Amino acid sequence: EEDGYDLWLRYRPLPQAGRDDVLRQAQAIVAPRSSATVQAAVTELRRGVQGMTGQAPADAAQPRAGAIVLGTAATLPPALLPDGLAALGREGYAVRRMESGETVIAANTDIGLLYGAFAWLRAANTGMPLDRLDERSAPKLQLRVLNHWDNLDRTVERGYAGESIWNWWALPDVRDRRYTDYARANASLGINGTVLNNVNSKPEILTAPWIAKAAALADVLRPYGIRVYLSARFSTPLELKETATADPLAPEVAAWWARKADEIYRAIPDFGGFLVKANSEGQPGPQDYHRSHADGANMLAAAVAPHGGVVMWRAFVYAAENPADRARQAYDEFTPLDGKFAKNVLVQVKNGPIDFQPREPFHPLFGAMPKTPLVMEFQITKEYLGYATHLAYLGTMFEEALRSDTARAPGGLTVAQVVEGAQTPGRPTGMAGVANIGSERTWSGSHFDQANWYAYGRLAWNPQASSRAIAREWAAQTFTREPRALDDIVGMMSMSREAVVNYMTPLGLHHIMGTGHHHGPAPWVAELARPDWNPVYYHKADRNGIGFDRTARGSNALAQYAPAIARQYGDPRTTPEPLLLWFHHLPWDYAMPSGRTLWAELVARYDLGVTQAQALRTRWAALKPFVDARRHEDVAALLDVQVKEAQWWRDACVAYFASVSGRPLPAGTKRPA
Ligand code: GCU
Repeated sequence: EEDGYDLWLRYRPLPQAGRDDVLRQAQAIVAPRSSATVQAAVTELRRGVQGMTGQAPADAAQPRAGAIVLGTAATLPPALLPDGLAALGREGYAVRRMESGETVIAANTDIGLLYGAFAWLRAANTGMPLDRLDERSAPKLQLRVLNHWDNLDRTVERGYAGESIWNWWALPDVRDRRYTDYARANASLGINGTVLNNVNSKPEILTAPWIAKAAALADVLRPYGIRVYLSARFSTPLELKETATADPLAPEVAAWWARKADEIYRAIPDFGGFLVKANSEGQPGPQDYHRSHADGANMLAAAVAPHGGVVMWRAFVYAAENPADRARQAYDEFTPLDGKFAKNVLVQVKNGPIDFQPREPFHPLFGAMPKTPLVMEFQITKEYLGYATHLAYLGTMFEEALRSDTARAPGGLTVAQVVEGAQTPGRPTGMAGVANIGSERTWSGSHFDQANWYAYGRLAWNPQASSRAIAREWAAQTFTREPRALDDIVGMMSMSREAVVNYMTPLGLHHIMGTGHHHGPAPWVAELARPDWNPVYYHKADRNGIGFDRTARGSNALAQYAPAIARQYGDPRTTPEPLLLWFHHLPWDYAMPSGRTLWAELVARYDLGVTQAQALRTRWAALKPFVDARRHEDVAALLDVQVKEAQWWRDACVAYFASVSGRPLPAGTKRPA
């Protein structure tokens, strides 16, 4: 029975034509003398071919027609060596079916071969004609990293898929097979780093017993090209009582971190480095000592630099004591530090300026720190988009952020280009995804949430990839290759996030979720001590109007964008409608392009969101013949919840905004059931 454990690596029997094709191309496997990585590639190819055809390929010593031949420039016979292999770099690969009948998987390193093996399996699984295969690919970003917000007690902050997959109690001795499956899944996407623990970190993680546990995981992940990183709490040495201060400029502190890095690298020679959340939401940081983020980051960077490590320093900062619009604070704090960070520091920036909302404009730091490598941080776990119950494919949301034009260069400069290092040649590049992975059988809490892990990984490899193509590729491997069914599943996925935006936070509304847990509507909450945690701070609705004025008349956060954008968004008439109330406070009678008043438009959007959630359910019901019974049922049950909760969102928000505006519901509005 299908329980979702196999993710997109199911390798189920193919229809006859596909099966014949695979059997023709994969009668045998020829691989160079093997490292653990090449072994992993061969094992995966074997597993895949066996699963898809029922027959295992033979081992062969010499290339021949009908064999898959893996090799590097050093091992491939010249006739099989693709041109220009060197240009594909350390992690790229070429997969090519030769005239002579061999399928060559070529790369410059063993990791490239593993990625190439997965590319061939993906092609086989999605029904590409294998006898014409000719694919070359190299990652556009260097550091493609998952961020686990996993605590040391195995709870997961904002995790909706069960407890942490890291069984800390049993580590380092017990190496759960699940770690290997985790590694396979990530390698199949090209994810090459994982931060094991929560950004809200604990000092213990950097003590010897925990380093040993991390080292055991690193050993399992290494053959799959995945490096381990740790979230470091800035005050660790002080809290462990090994220094008298955590001041980054105190020599004893720098010396402590250098020794700590040495200790970690003795256990994990390819340790990736540190991720740090500092001076944000109560976390300690350099500002506690009147030092800057750069002072803090550079001190840690110096500790890992001799070992080739990096520091990913988060720009997600805002403080209760700062009266400025929360959306402004990261830019205000970080832009003056541009050019002040050490070479091996990357500043990690969330996609939007508030906090992983269903829709935000892109973060104004992208394009505004031309001397600093910026890592894009996406949240794969759906903290604000209905947890693991609601279907919301995030590929479209990630794509929207990546394709946004920062307008920081003549002719345009997209966020993707910034992340790819267009402004910072020679410096490292990266993307981080807050994982949605836990111990549930499905890994991600639902079948469709696996697509978000998948889409993240594929976009980290190529930030300019199409979210629709990725959805199709995922669905073909996960559910069915039947083209019409695929069209429908991709259609559902492509509309799903917009549905969530409509029933939760249409027209640029944001952060009106239940406070603390962030699930369900609570636009009325006004009494939390920190103003910036109250939904009323964000929607500012009253009798006269609604929305957050971020123009020059308001918080002027808009001025943090390039002049062309600031001009365009400065006027509600030229502000994209999906961001209207993000940037403007408008009267309820404001005339929308649809001809409706703002009030009527808002209500119509909430209604539309519910209609869209219902459509997801109906469309899925029609897919029953194409999906195995258990997974069909699992998804159907969640879509029922989604419809119910979409109605809850609409009813609660419409009732609340009706009460503050004092307006009657527009004629024709659906009443609560
Ligand atoms: C959000 C989230 C927190 C998390 C924080 C962060 O605010 O609710 O749980 O710690 O983001 O990204 O650091």
